[in-house]
Amino acid sequence: AAIVKHTFHVGNLTLEPLCKEQVVVAVNKQLPGPTILAQEGDTLVVDVFNESPYNITLHWHGVFQQLTAWADGPSYITQCPIRPGNKYTYKFKVSGQEGTLWWHAHFANLRATVYGPLIIRPRNNKPYPFPKPYAEVPILLAGQWWDANVVDVENEALASGRGPNVSDAYTINGKPGALYSCAKESFSMKVSAGKTYLLRIINAALDSQFFFKVAGHNFTVVAVDAVYTNPYHTDVVVIAPGQTADVLLRADQPPATYYMAAHPYVSAPLVPFDDSTTLGILQYENASSSSIANPAMPELPPVTDTPTAHTFYTNITRLMSRRGGNGYVPVVPRRVDERMLITFGLGLDQCPPGGNCGGPGNSRLTASMNNVSFQFPSKTSVLEAHFNGVATGIFTDDFPDNPPLVYDYTNATAAAAFTATEKRTRVKRLAYGAVVEMVLQNTAVLSTENHPIHLHGFNFFVLAQGFGNFNRAREEEKFNLVNPQERNTIAVPVGGWAALRFTANNPGVWMMHCHMDVHVPRGLVAVFVVENGGTPSSTLPPPPADLPRC
Ligand code: C2O
Repeated sequence: AAIVKHTFHVGNLTLEPLCKEQVVVAVNKQLPGPTILAQEGDTLVVDVFNESPYNITLHWHGVFQQLTAWADGPSYITQCPIRPGNKYTYKFKVSGQEGTLWWHAHFANLRATVYGPLIIRPRNNKPYPFPKPYAEVPILLAGQWWDANVVDVENEALASGRGPNVSDAYTINGKPGALYSCAKESFSMKVSAGKTYLLRIINAALDSQFFFKVAGHNFTVVAVDAVYTNPYHTDVVVIAPGQTADVLLRADQPPATYYMAAHPYVSAPLVPFDDSTTLGILQYENASSSSIANPAMPELPPVTDTPTAHTFYTNITRLMSRRGGNGYVPVVPRRVDERMLITFGLGLDQCPPGGNCGGPGNSRLTASMNNVSFQFPSKTSVLEAHFNGVATGIFTDDFPDNPPLVYDYTNATAAAAFTATEKRTRVKRLAYGAVVEMVLQNTAVLSTENHPIHLHGFNFFVLAQGFGNFNRAREEEKFNLVNPQERNTIAVPVGGWAALRFTANNPGVWMMHCHMDVHVPRGLVAVFVVENGGTPSSTLPPPPADLPRC
Protein backbone atom coordinates (compact mmCIF):
# COMPACT_ATOMS: atom_id res chain seq x y z
CA ALA A 1 0.00 0.00 0.00
CA ALA A 2 1.21 3.47 -0.86
CA ILE A 3 1.11 6.89 0.74
CA VAL A 4 -0.86 9.32 -1.42
CA LYS A 5 0.03 12.94 -0.68
CA HIS A 6 -1.84 16.06 -1.64
CA THR A 7 -1.46 19.72 -0.80
CA PHE A 8 -4.70 21.68 -0.78
CA HIS A 9 -4.58 25.45 -0.82
CA VAL A 10 -8.04 26.72 0.05
CA GLY A 11 -8.43 30.22 -1.31
CA ASN A 12 -10.36 32.65 -3.42
CA LEU A 13 -11.04 32.04 -7.08
CA THR A 14 -12.88 34.34 -9.48
CA LEU A 15 -15.17 32.58 -11.94
CA GLU A 16 -17.81 33.61 -14.43
CA PRO A 17 -19.81 30.50 -15.39
CA LEU A 18 -22.91 32.60 -16.10
CA CYS A 19 -23.22 36.31 -16.87
CA LYS A 20 -21.33 37.75 -13.94
CA GLU A 21 -18.03 37.40 -12.12
CA GLN A 22 -18.18 35.85 -8.67
CA VAL A 23 -15.45 35.25 -6.10
CA VAL A 24 -15.72 31.76 -4.61
CA VAL A 25 -13.66 29.65 -2.23
CA ALA A 26 -11.96 26.76 -4.03
CA VAL A 27 -9.10 24.31 -3.62
CA ASN A 28 -5.96 24.92 -5.70
CA LYS A 29 -7.90 27.38 -7.87
CA GLN A 30 -9.94 24.54 -9.37
CA LEU A 31 -13.66 23.90 -9.53
CA PRO A 32 -14.31 21.01 -9.07
CA GLY A 33 -11.27 20.58 -6.83
CA PRO A 34 -8.50 18.05 -7.38
CA THR A 35 -9.31 14.37 -7.80
CA ILE A 36 -7.79 12.11 -5.15
CA LEU A 37 -6.99 8.73 -6.64
CA ALA A 38 -5.96 5.89 -4.34
CA GLN A 39 -5.90 2.15 -4.09
CA GLU A 40 -7.72 0.33 -1.33
CA GLY A 41 -5.34 0.10 1.64
CA ASP A 42 -3.43 3.31 0.82
CA THR A 43 -2.80 6.07 3.33
CA LEU A 44 -3.90 9.57 2.32
CA VAL A 45 -2.05 12.59 3.64
CA VAL A 46 -3.66 15.90 2.73
CA ASP A 47 -2.03 19.13 3.91
CA VAL A 48 -4.75 21.76 4.00
CA PHE A 49 -3.67 25.40 4.04
CA ASN A 50 -6.55 27.76 4.73
CA GLU A 51 -5.81 30.85 2.65
CA SER A 52 -9.50 31.80 2.47
CA PRO A 53 -11.25 34.44 4.60
CA TYR A 54 -13.47 31.80 6.23
CA ASN A 55 -13.06 29.08 8.82
CA ILE A 56 -13.04 25.72 7.10
CA THR A 57 -12.81 21.97 7.60
CA LEU A 58 -12.71 19.19 5.02
CA HIS A 59 -14.67 15.93 5.20
CA TRP A 60 -13.92 12.73 3.27
CA HIS A 61 -17.48 11.72 2.59
CA GLY A 62 -18.02 7.97 3.03
CA VAL A 63 -14.51 7.09 4.22
CA PHE A 64 -14.79 4.77 7.23
CA GLN A 65 -11.98 6.55 9.12
CA GLN A 66 -11.26 3.43 11.14
CA LEU A 67 -9.46 4.71 14.29
CA THR A 68 -8.95 8.11 12.63
CA ALA A 69 -12.06 9.99 13.77
CA TRP A 70 -9.78 13.05 14.17
CA ALA A 71 -9.54 13.23 10.39
CA ASP A 72 -13.28 12.99 9.66
CA GLY A 73 -13.74 16.73 9.50
CA PRO A 74 -17.25 17.95 10.45
CA SER A 75 -16.75 21.25 12.23
CA TYR A 76 -17.40 21.21 15.99
CA ILE A 77 -18.11 17.47 15.84
CA THR A 78 -14.63 16.01 15.33
CA GLN A 79 -12.55 19.17 15.17
CA CYS A 80 -12.60 22.92 15.53
CA PRO A 81 -12.33 24.71 12.19
CA ILE A 82 -9.03 25.59 10.54
CA ARG A 83 -8.82 29.36 10.97
CA PRO A 84 -7.76 31.62 8.10
CA GLY A 85 -3.98 31.46 7.78
CA ASN A 86 -3.74 28.09 9.54
CA LYS A 87 -3.06 24.54 8.41
CA TYR A 88 -4.16 21.03 9.33
CA THR A 89 -3.02 17.69 7.93
CA TYR A 90 -5.67 15.06 7.39
CA LYS A 91 -4.12 11.61 7.55
CA PHE A 92 -6.16 8.44 7.16
CA LYS A 93 -6.31 5.10 5.43
CA VAL A 94 -8.84 4.09 2.83
CA SER A 95 -9.43 0.43 3.56
CA GLY A 96 -12.31 -1.98 3.34
CA GLN A 97 -14.03 -0.01 0.57
CA GLU A 98 -13.65 0.48 -3.20
CA GLY A 99 -15.39 2.80 -5.59
CA THR A 100 -16.35 6.47 -5.79
CA LEU A 101 -16.45 8.76 -2.79
CA TRP A 102 -15.75 12.45 -2.55
CA TRP A 103 -14.44 15.18 -0.30
CA HIS A 104 -16.04 18.49 0.59
CA ALA A 105 -15.92 21.38 3.02
CA HIS A 106 -17.86 20.74 6.23
CA PHE A 107 -18.30 24.30 7.43
CA ALA A 108 -21.26 26.52 6.53
CA ASN A 109 -22.27 26.47 2.85
CA LEU A 110 -18.69 26.30 1.61
CA ARG A 111 -19.04 22.87 0.10
CA ALA A 112 -20.92 24.56 -2.75
CA THR A 113 -17.50 25.21 -4.29
CA VAL A 114 -15.08 23.20 -2.13
CA TYR A 115 -15.45 19.62 -3.33
CA GLY A 116 -13.85 16.95 -5.49
CA PRO A 117 -13.79 13.20 -6.19
CA LEU A 118 -12.07 10.62 -4.00
CA ILE A 119 -11.69 7.44 -6.01
CA ILE A 120 -10.58 4.17 -4.47
CA ARG A 121 -9.51 1.46 -6.89
CA PRO A 122 -8.88 -2.17 -5.90
CA ARG A 123 -5.37 -2.77 -4.56
CA ASN A 124 -2.68 -4.40 -6.72
CA ASN A 125 -4.79 -3.82 -9.82
CA LYS A 126 -7.17 -6.55 -8.79
CA PRO A 127 -9.99 -6.51 -11.37
CA TYR A 128 -13.34 -4.91 -10.76
CA PRO A 129 -16.27 -7.32 -10.34
CA PHE A 130 -17.57 -6.10 -13.74
CA PRO A 131 -16.09 -5.95 -17.25
CA LYS A 132 -13.10 -3.65 -17.41
CA PRO A 133 -14.16 -0.26 -18.75
CA TYR A 134 -12.22 1.34 -21.59
CA ALA A 135 -11.97 4.56 -19.58
CA GLU A 136 -13.22 6.08 -16.33
CA VAL A 137 -14.80 9.53 -16.11
CA PRO A 138 -15.72 11.34 -12.88
CA ILE A 139 -18.99 13.22 -13.30
CA LEU A 140 -19.62 15.74 -10.54
CA LEU A 141 -23.31 16.01 -10.96
CA ALA A 142 -24.32 18.41 -10.11
CA GLY A 143 -22.62 21.27 -8.55
CA GLN A 144 -24.94 24.06 -7.59
CA TRP A 145 -24.01 27.60 -8.47
CA TRP A 146 -25.14 30.91 -7.01
CA ASP A 147 -24.24 34.24 -8.54
CA ALA A 148 -23.78 35.31 -4.93
CA ASN A 149 -21.59 34.61 -1.94
CA VAL A 150 -22.75 31.20 -0.67
CA VAL A 151 -21.98 31.95 2.97
CA ASP A 152 -24.21 35.03 2.72
CA VAL A 153 -26.89 32.84 1.08
CA GLU A 154 -26.86 30.57 4.12
CA ASN A 155 -26.76 33.38 6.68
CA GLU A 156 -29.65 35.16 4.99
CA ALA A 157 -31.70 31.95 4.97
CA LEU A 158 -31.02 31.36 8.66
CA ALA A 159 -31.87 34.93 9.57
CA SER A 160 -35.03 35.03 7.46
CA GLY A 161 -36.64 31.85 8.79
CA ARG A 162 -37.16 30.69 5.21
CA GLY A 163 -35.35 28.45 2.77
CA PRO A 164 -32.21 29.64 0.99
CA ASN A 165 -32.34 31.72 -2.17
CA VAL A 166 -32.82 29.60 -5.24
CA SER A 167 -29.56 28.76 -7.00
CA ASP A 168 -28.76 30.17 -10.44
CA ALA A 169 -27.51 27.01 -12.12
CA TYR A 170 -26.62 23.37 -11.73
CA THR A 171 -23.33 22.23 -13.19
CA ILE A 172 -21.67 19.09 -14.51
CA ASN A 173 -17.98 19.14 -13.56
CA GLY A 174 -18.36 22.84 -12.80
CA LYS A 175 -19.99 23.80 -16.13
CA PRO A 176 -23.67 24.78 -16.36
CA GLY A 177 -24.25 23.87 -20.01
CA ALA A 178 -26.11 25.29 -22.97
CA LEU A 179 -29.51 26.01 -21.44
CA TYR A 180 -28.31 28.88 -19.22
CA SER A 181 -27.83 32.38 -20.50
CA CYS A 182 -24.18 33.38 -20.92
CA ALA A 183 -23.04 29.82 -20.17
CA LYS A 184 -19.73 29.64 -21.97
CA GLU A 185 -18.84 25.98 -21.99
CA SER A 186 -20.35 22.59 -21.37
CA PHE A 187 -18.69 19.54 -19.90
CA SER A 188 -17.93 17.27 -22.83
CA MET A 189 -16.62 13.71 -23.06
CA LYS A 190 -15.48 11.94 -26.20
CA VAL A 191 -16.28 8.28 -26.76
CA SER A 192 -15.35 5.63 -29.31
CA ALA A 193 -18.14 3.52 -30.76
CA GLY A 194 -18.37 0.09 -29.15
CA LYS A 195 -16.38 0.97 -26.02
CA THR A 196 -17.68 0.93 -22.43
CA TYR A 197 -17.08 3.81 -20.02
CA LEU A 198 -17.31 3.90 -16.24
CA LEU A 199 -19.03 7.10 -15.12
CA ARG A 200 -18.33 7.88 -11.49
CA ILE A 201 -21.30 10.09 -10.65
CA ILE A 202 -21.30 12.23 -7.50
CA ASN A 203 -24.15 14.45 -6.32
CA ALA A 204 -22.30 17.45 -4.92
CA ALA A 205 -25.31 19.78 -4.86
CA LEU A 206 -26.30 21.53 -1.64
CA ASP A 207 -30.00 20.91 -1.75
CA SER A 208 -31.23 18.91 -4.72
CA GLN A 209 -31.69 15.32 -5.78
CA PHE A 210 -31.35 14.71 -9.52
CA PHE A 211 -32.57 12.66 -12.41
CA PHE A 212 -29.70 12.05 -14.86
CA LYS A 213 -29.94 10.70 -18.39
CA VAL A 214 -27.87 10.47 -21.54
CA ALA A 215 -29.92 10.66 -24.76
CA GLY A 216 -30.25 7.29 -26.46
CA HIS A 217 -28.12 5.40 -23.93
CA ASN A 218 -28.72 3.06 -21.02
CA PHE A 219 -26.69 2.56 -17.86
CA THR A 220 -25.66 -0.41 -15.79
CA VAL A 221 -25.24 0.56 -12.14
CA VAL A 222 -22.30 -1.37 -10.64
CA ALA A 223 -21.71 0.47 -7.36
CA VAL A 224 -23.32 3.06 -5.12
CA ASP A 225 -21.58 4.93 -2.30
CA ALA A 226 -18.41 2.89 -2.98
CA VAL A 227 -20.15 -0.47 -2.52
CA TYR A 228 -20.48 -2.89 -5.43
CA THR A 229 -24.01 -3.71 -6.49
CA ASN A 230 -25.55 -6.45 -8.56
CA PRO A 231 -25.70 -5.02 -12.09
CA TYR A 232 -28.83 -2.88 -12.40
CA HIS A 233 -29.97 -1.74 -15.83
CA THR A 234 -31.73 1.58 -16.14
CA ASP A 235 -32.06 4.54 -18.48
CA VAL A 236 -32.16 7.02 -15.59
CA VAL A 237 -29.91 7.52 -12.57
CA VAL A 238 -31.48 9.05 -9.47
CA ILE A 239 -29.06 10.49 -6.99
CA ALA A 240 -29.39 12.44 -3.75
CA PRO A 241 -26.91 14.95 -2.29
CA GLY A 242 -23.97 13.02 -0.85
CA GLN A 243 -24.60 9.84 -2.83
CA THR A 244 -22.46 8.40 -5.60
CA ALA A 245 -23.30 5.96 -8.39
CA ASP A 246 -20.81 4.12 -10.57
CA VAL A 247 -22.44 3.26 -13.88
CA LEU A 248 -21.25 1.63 -17.07
CA LEU A 249 -22.24 3.32 -20.29
CA ARG A 250 -21.68 1.50 -23.56
CA ALA A 251 -21.22 3.67 -26.62
CA ASP A 252 -23.58 1.48 -28.64
CA GLN A 253 -25.50 4.14 -30.58
CA PRO A 254 -24.90 5.57 -34.05
CA PRO A 255 -21.82 7.80 -33.92
CA ALA A 256 -23.27 11.23 -33.22
CA THR A 257 -23.48 13.78 -30.42
CA TYR A 258 -25.79 13.28 -27.44
CA TYR A 259 -26.67 15.49 -24.51
CA MET A 260 -26.40 14.25 -20.94
CA ALA A 261 -28.88 16.11 -18.76
CA ALA A 262 -29.85 16.44 -15.13
CA HIS A 263 -32.64 18.24 -13.38
CA PRO A 264 -34.02 18.01 -9.85
CA TYR A 265 -36.24 15.41 -8.29
CA VAL A 266 -38.35 17.39 -5.82
CA SER A 267 -41.09 15.35 -4.17
CA ALA A 268 -43.04 18.30 -2.83
CA PRO A 269 -42.39 21.54 -4.70
CA LEU A 270 -44.01 23.71 -2.03
CA VAL A 271 -41.41 26.45 -2.03
CA PRO A 272 -39.55 28.01 -4.96
CA PHE A 273 -36.66 25.85 -6.13
CA ASP A 274 -34.17 25.86 -8.97
CA ASP A 275 -35.90 23.77 -11.63
CA SER A 276 -33.27 24.37 -14.30
CA THR A 277 -31.50 21.66 -16.29
CA THR A 278 -27.76 21.23 -16.65
CA LEU A 279 -26.37 19.71 -19.84
CA GLY A 280 -23.15 17.99 -20.78
CA ILE A 281 -22.10 16.45 -24.07
CA LEU A 282 -21.28 12.90 -25.08
CA GLN A 283 -19.58 13.04 -28.43
CA TYR A 284 -18.60 10.05 -30.55
CA GLU A 285 -15.42 10.09 -32.56
CA ASN A 286 -16.36 10.85 -36.15
CA ALA A 287 -19.64 12.49 -35.14
CA SER A 288 -21.01 14.49 -38.05
CA SER A 289 -20.89 18.26 -37.82
CA SER A 290 -24.68 18.40 -38.06
CA SER A 291 -24.99 16.21 -34.95
CA ILE A 292 -22.41 18.35 -33.15
CA ALA A 293 -24.48 21.42 -33.93
CA ASN A 294 -27.67 19.73 -32.80
CA PRO A 295 -27.15 17.00 -30.19
CA ALA A 296 -29.97 14.63 -29.29
CA MET A 297 -31.75 15.63 -26.05
CA PRO A 298 -32.88 13.05 -23.45
CA GLU A 299 -36.34 13.21 -21.96
CA LEU A 300 -36.02 13.54 -18.19
CA PRO A 301 -38.79 12.39 -15.82
CA PRO A 302 -40.95 15.22 -14.44
CA VAL A 303 -39.39 16.79 -11.33
CA THR A 304 -42.11 15.33 -9.08
CA ASP A 305 -41.77 11.76 -10.38
CA THR A 306 -41.55 9.93 -7.06
CA PRO A 307 -42.36 6.49 -8.58
CA THR A 308 -39.30 6.68 -10.87
CA ALA A 309 -37.11 7.80 -7.97
CA HIS A 310 -38.46 5.05 -5.72
CA THR A 311 -37.96 2.37 -8.37
CA PHE A 312 -34.31 3.31 -8.74
CA TYR A 313 -33.65 3.67 -5.02
CA THR A 314 -35.26 0.39 -4.02
CA ASN A 315 -34.11 -1.93 -6.80
CA ILE A 316 -30.42 -1.78 -6.02
CA THR A 317 -28.93 -4.75 -4.16
CA ARG A 318 -25.45 -5.34 -2.82
CA LEU A 319 -23.06 -7.67 -4.61
CA MET A 320 -22.42 -10.01 -1.68
CA SER A 321 -19.72 -12.07 -3.38
CA ARG A 322 -17.14 -9.32 -3.30
CA ARG A 323 -15.49 -8.22 -0.11
CA GLY A 324 -14.62 -4.58 0.25
CA GLY A 325 -10.93 -5.37 0.81
CA ASN A 326 -9.04 -5.58 4.10
CA GLY A 327 -11.00 -8.70 4.99
CA TYR A 328 -14.28 -6.79 5.05
CA VAL A 329 -17.08 -9.33 4.77
CA PRO A 330 -20.49 -7.95 3.89
CA VAL A 331 -22.89 -9.81 6.13
CA VAL A 332 -26.04 -8.29 7.55
CA PRO A 333 -25.81 -8.57 11.33
CA ARG A 334 -28.71 -10.63 12.72
CA ARG A 335 -28.34 -9.69 16.37
CA VAL A 336 -29.65 -6.22 17.21
CA ASP A 337 -28.42 -4.45 20.34
CA GLU A 338 -30.00 -1.03 19.94
CA ARG A 339 -33.33 -0.35 18.27
CA MET A 340 -34.12 3.25 17.45
CA LEU A 341 -37.02 4.98 15.76
CA ILE A 342 -35.88 8.43 14.69
CA THR A 343 -38.47 10.86 13.40
CA PHE A 344 -37.07 13.79 11.47
CA GLY A 345 -38.18 16.74 9.48
CA LEU A 346 -38.71 20.45 9.43
CA GLY A 347 -40.93 22.34 11.80
CA LEU A 348 -41.74 25.77 13.13
CA ASP A 349 -40.62 27.10 16.48
CA GLN A 350 -41.81 30.05 18.45
CA CYS A 351 -39.60 33.03 17.93
CA PRO A 352 -37.68 33.98 21.09
CA PRO A 353 -39.23 37.01 22.86
CA GLY A 354 -38.40 40.21 21.05
CA GLY A 355 -37.05 38.36 18.02
CA ASN A 356 -38.03 38.88 14.42
CA CYS A 357 -38.11 35.41 12.90
CA GLY A 358 -39.78 35.83 9.53
CA GLY A 359 -41.87 32.65 9.53
CA PRO A 360 -45.71 32.41 9.79
CA GLY A 361 -46.94 34.07 13.01
CA ASN A 362 -43.38 35.20 13.73
CA SER A 363 -42.25 31.58 14.01
CA ARG A 364 -38.95 30.33 12.74
CA LEU A 365 -38.00 27.34 10.68
CA THR A 366 -36.34 24.56 12.59
CA ALA A 367 -35.40 20.95 12.00
CA SER A 368 -35.01 18.07 14.37
CA MET A 369 -34.52 14.37 15.00
CA ASN A 370 -36.75 12.91 17.71
CA ASN A 371 -37.67 16.51 18.48
CA VAL A 372 -34.12 17.42 19.36
CA SER A 373 -32.86 20.27 17.24
CA PHE A 374 -29.13 19.70 17.45
CA GLN A 375 -27.03 22.59 18.70
CA PHE A 376 -23.40 22.62 17.69
CA PRO A 377 -20.91 23.39 20.43
CA SER A 378 -18.62 26.34 19.71
CA LYS A 379 -15.82 26.13 22.29
CA THR A 380 -14.60 22.64 21.46
CA SER A 381 -15.63 19.66 19.35
CA VAL A 382 -17.81 16.85 20.66
CA LEU A 383 -14.96 14.43 19.94
CA GLU A 384 -12.45 16.40 22.04
CA ALA A 385 -14.95 16.73 24.89
CA HIS A 386 -15.60 12.99 24.73
CA PHE A 387 -11.94 12.03 24.43
CA ASN A 388 -10.95 14.27 27.35
CA GLY A 389 -13.90 13.07 29.42
CA VAL A 390 -15.25 16.60 29.93
CA ALA A 391 -18.73 16.42 28.44
CA THR A 392 -20.22 18.66 31.15
CA GLY A 393 -21.47 21.84 29.58
CA ILE A 394 -20.75 20.53 26.07
CA PHE A 395 -23.13 17.62 25.49
CA THR A 396 -25.38 15.12 27.25
CA ASP A 397 -25.66 11.49 26.22
CA ASP A 398 -29.43 11.23 26.42
CA PHE A 399 -30.50 11.44 22.80
CA PRO A 400 -33.84 9.57 22.83
CA ASP A 401 -34.23 6.17 21.15
CA ASN A 402 -37.79 7.05 20.20
CA PRO A 403 -39.82 10.17 19.49
CA PRO A 404 -41.57 11.64 22.53
CA LEU A 405 -45.03 10.92 21.13
CA VAL A 406 -46.55 8.44 18.75
CA TYR A 407 -48.78 10.00 16.17
CA ASP A 408 -49.57 9.83 12.49
CA TYR A 409 -46.25 11.16 11.24
CA THR A 410 -47.45 11.59 7.69
CA ASN A 411 -50.63 13.53 8.44
CA ALA A 412 -49.73 17.20 8.50
CA THR A 413 -52.77 18.19 10.57
CA ALA A 414 -52.20 15.55 13.21
CA ALA A 415 -48.50 16.25 13.28
CA ALA A 416 -48.75 20.01 13.41
CA ALA A 417 -50.03 19.91 16.98
CA PHE A 418 -46.64 18.56 17.84
CA THR A 419 -43.92 20.97 16.91
CA ALA A 420 -42.09 21.66 20.16
CA THR A 421 -38.41 21.01 19.69
CA GLU A 422 -35.60 21.26 22.14
CA LYS A 423 -32.42 23.00 21.05
CA ARG A 424 -29.85 20.84 22.75
CA THR A 425 -26.58 18.97 22.20
CA ARG A 426 -27.76 15.46 23.00
CA VAL A 427 -25.85 12.45 21.70
CA LYS A 428 -26.48 8.70 21.60
CA ARG A 429 -23.78 6.65 23.29
CA LEU A 430 -23.02 3.22 21.82
CA ALA A 431 -20.88 0.40 23.15
CA TYR A 432 -18.10 -0.70 20.82
CA GLY A 433 -19.47 -3.33 18.44
CA ALA A 434 -23.15 -2.65 19.17
CA VAL A 435 -25.46 -3.48 16.30
CA VAL A 436 -27.84 -0.59 15.74
CA GLU A 437 -31.11 -0.84 13.91
CA MET A 438 -32.51 2.57 13.07
CA VAL A 439 -35.78 3.36 11.44
CA LEU A 440 -35.71 6.85 9.99
CA GLN A 441 -39.23 8.19 9.76
CA ASN A 442 -39.97 11.33 7.78
CA THR A 443 -42.54 13.58 9.46
CA ALA A 444 -45.04 16.05 8.09
CA VAL A 445 -44.92 18.64 10.85
CA LEU A 446 -44.53 21.32 8.20
CA SER A 447 -44.78 19.31 5.02
CA THR A 448 -43.21 16.13 3.83
CA GLU A 449 -40.01 16.69 1.97
CA ASN A 450 -37.13 14.56 0.74
CA HIS A 451 -34.22 14.32 3.11
CA PRO A 452 -31.03 12.45 2.25
CA ILE A 453 -29.64 11.26 5.59
CA HIS A 454 -25.89 10.66 5.76
CA LEU A 455 -24.04 8.72 8.46
CA HIS A 456 -20.36 9.44 9.04
CA GLY A 457 -17.89 6.65 9.85
CA PHE A 458 -20.01 3.71 8.72
CA ASN A 459 -22.02 2.21 5.94
CA PHE A 460 -25.43 0.87 6.83
CA PHE A 461 -27.50 -1.86 5.23
CA VAL A 462 -30.84 -0.62 3.92
CA LEU A 463 -33.21 -3.38 5.04
CA ALA A 464 -36.41 -1.85 3.70
CA GLN A 465 -37.99 1.43 2.67
CA GLY A 466 -41.58 2.48 2.34
CA PHE A 467 -44.19 5.22 2.40
CA GLY A 468 -46.43 6.22 5.31
CA ASN A 469 -45.85 5.30 8.95
CA PHE A 470 -43.39 2.53 9.78
CA ASN A 471 -45.24 -0.42 11.26
CA ARG A 472 -42.83 -2.95 12.70
CA ALA A 473 -45.26 -5.87 12.78
CA ARG A 474 -46.04 -5.37 9.11
CA GLU A 475 -42.63 -4.42 7.75
CA GLU A 476 -40.16 -6.52 9.67
CA GLU A 477 -40.91 -9.68 7.75
CA LYS A 478 -40.08 -7.87 4.51
CA PHE A 479 -36.58 -6.86 5.64
CA ASN A 480 -33.93 -7.88 3.13
CA LEU A 481 -31.28 -9.61 5.24
CA VAL A 482 -29.75 -11.37 2.23
CA ASN A 483 -28.33 -8.73 -0.13
CA PRO A 484 -29.62 -5.29 0.91
CA GLN A 485 -27.90 -2.25 -0.54
CA GLU A 486 -25.18 -0.79 1.61
CA ARG A 487 -24.77 2.99 1.66
CA ASN A 488 -23.60 5.97 3.63
CA THR A 489 -26.47 8.22 2.49
CA ILE A 490 -30.13 7.23 2.20
CA ALA A 491 -32.78 9.28 0.46
CA VAL A 492 -35.60 8.43 2.85
CA PRO A 493 -38.81 8.11 0.81
CA VAL A 494 -40.89 11.26 1.09
CA GLY A 495 -43.51 10.89 3.82
CA GLY A 496 -42.03 7.48 4.49
CA TRP A 497 -39.30 5.59 6.25
CA ALA A 498 -36.14 3.55 5.82
CA ALA A 499 -34.94 0.75 8.10
CA LEU A 500 -31.15 0.60 8.46
CA ARG A 501 -28.67 -1.56 10.34
CA PHE A 502 -24.99 -0.99 11.11
CA THR A 503 -22.34 -2.21 13.49
CA ALA A 504 -20.73 0.47 15.65
CA ASN A 505 -17.23 -0.93 15.32
CA ASN A 506 -15.33 2.34 15.06
CA PRO A 507 -14.63 4.32 18.23
CA GLY A 508 -15.14 8.06 18.00
CA VAL A 509 -17.87 10.60 17.42
CA TRP A 510 -19.96 10.27 14.28
CA MET A 511 -22.42 12.69 12.87
CA MET A 512 -25.64 11.71 11.12
CA HIS A 513 -27.40 14.50 9.29
CA CYS A 514 -29.46 15.64 6.38
CA HIS A 515 -27.24 16.27 3.36
CA MET A 516 -29.44 19.21 2.33
CA ASP A 517 -26.90 21.68 3.57
CA VAL A 518 -29.20 24.31 5.02
CA HIS A 519 -30.92 21.73 7.23
CA VAL A 520 -27.72 21.17 9.19
CA PRO A 521 -27.52 24.50 11.05
CA ARG A 522 -31.27 24.21 11.63
CA GLY A 523 -30.59 21.05 13.63
CA LEU A 524 -31.39 18.03 11.41
CA VAL A 525 -28.52 16.22 13.05
CA ALA A 526 -27.91 13.32 15.43
CA VAL A 527 -24.53 12.36 16.86
CA PHE A 528 -23.31 8.94 17.93
CA VAL A 529 -20.50 8.53 20.44
CA VAL A 530 -18.95 5.09 20.02
CA GLU A 531 -16.92 3.91 23.03
CA ASN A 532 -13.56 2.26 22.80
CA GLY A 533 -13.44 -1.52 22.83
CA GLY A 534 -11.01 -3.40 25.02
CA THR A 535 -8.08 -3.77 22.63
CA PRO A 536 -5.58 -1.46 20.90
CA SER A 537 -7.33 -2.07 17.57
CA SER A 538 -10.58 -0.84 19.08
CA THR A 539 -9.19 2.20 20.91
CA LEU A 540 -9.13 5.68 19.42
CA PRO A 541 -5.59 7.09 19.50
CA PRO A 542 -4.99 10.63 20.83
CA PRO A 543 -5.47 13.58 18.46
CA PRO A 544 -2.71 14.68 16.11
CA ALA A 545 -0.60 17.52 17.51
CA ASP A 546 -1.81 19.99 14.87
CA LEU A 547 -5.55 19.50 15.54
CA PRO A 548 -7.00 23.04 15.27
CA ARG A 549 -8.03 24.79 18.47
CA CYS A 550 -11.30 26.65 18.86
CU1 C2O B 1 -20.98 14.73 2.99
CU2 C2O B 1 -21.40 15.33 6.95
O1 C2O B 1 -21.22 15.10 5.00
